[in-house]
Amino acid sequence: MQTAGAAPGTTPSADGGAFLRVRGLTKHFDITGGLLPRLLYGRKVVHAVEDVSFDLAAGETLGLVGESGSGKSTAARVIARLIPATAGEVHIGGHDVLRAGPAEMKAIRKDVQFVFQDPFSSLNPRMRIERLIGRSLTIHFDMSPMERRERVVELMEQVGLRADHIYRYPHEFSGGQRQRIAIARALASEPTMILADEPASSLDVSIQAQVLELLDGLRQRLGLTMIFITHDLNVAEFVSDQVAVMYGGRLMEQGPTEEVLQRPLHPYSQSLLEARPHFGVRERLRPLEGEPAIPINPPVGCPFAHRCPIRIQACTEANVELVEKSPGHKVACIRV
Ligand SMILES: Nc1ncnc2c1ncn2[C@@H]1O[C@H](COP(=O)(O)OP(=O)(O)O)[C@@H](O)[C@H]1O
Ligand SMILES: [Mg+2]
Repeated sequence: MQTAGAAPGTTPSADGGAFLRVRGLTKHFDITGGLLPRLLYGRKVVHAVEDVSFDLAAGETLGLVGESGSGKSTAARVIARLIPATAGEVHIGGHDVLRAGPAEMKAIRKDVQFVFQDPFSSLNPRMRIERLIGRSLTIHFDMSPMERRERVVELMEQVGLRADHIYRYPHEFSGGQRQRIAIARALASEPTMILADEPASSLDVSIQAQVLELLDGLRQRLGLTMIFITHDLNVAEFVSDQVAVMYGGRLMEQGPTEEVLQRPLHPYSQSLLEARPHFGVRERLRPLEGEPAIPINPPVGCPFAHRCPIRIQACTEANVELVEKSPGHKVACIRV
């Protein structure tokens, strides 16, 4: 039986030492809705993720932040190839994710696990905990039923669940406990990387901190690389080494967490930070003035330009590249 921790397959890729390397990642959804609407109104394409590139070192956590609809979940889904990309490249620990064949995909499914926002819909209500967590062990490891059961108990204890609850069903647990089950299930395959999509956002405020601390502790102990999606900058500050700010499908700013949160360069990041709740009060981010860009057939230029207090004409005349302003701190704004 393998033990967690050794994380087999954790080989930093040869290219520059980044464990996760994303280049030009793009995801478009065609929502035209058939031939007739297409002939009448033309194609309608949602640019959910547009030309996103970044690197993440092994063992680091990237906090992916931005308002609802900015493309965070889609980016994570494309990175793990839960849905196909329109264009771009993703390398995780030496795997060329978007070009991998079936055998390599199986290894990638083992190495890269998801924790979703809503533990109600992500756990099959008809399965006992033993099977919910154990299924992943059956898929990825050759274990006897006895070994399997022992390992499920170990995983349950690792996430703070009682071993004698192994034969219970998901509905017998609270939201926070259910998210612990989802985390145990994600850890079962001994992944090298976790993509956590707002894993605490649906939970009561008092439970959120416990789940965040659990994930962060496990990440450190197991040496996991993580993308942590959140709309809450306080959460991003707590869990991440790097922060990437998304808007309208594009990365607006990226850099070390302290640097980006203390000295945000992009006007969008600055307005997000101004709307940030202070004094430890966790509340939903207040929306900014104006409507977020809906990225259907977007025009060229910065997607934030129409809400930006310092825009000039050039902002809407060409797309804006991320430029490094200080070591590791990049911003996509021609005004800073
Ligand atoms: N399956 C889909 N079909 C069409 N549009 C989609 C689909 N999934 C997401 N989108 C659109 O892509 C954009 C980004 O969505 P999403 O990645 O869920 O953002 P976030 O996670 O930041 O809230 C939104 O405009 C959303 O409506
Ligand atoms: Mg989302």
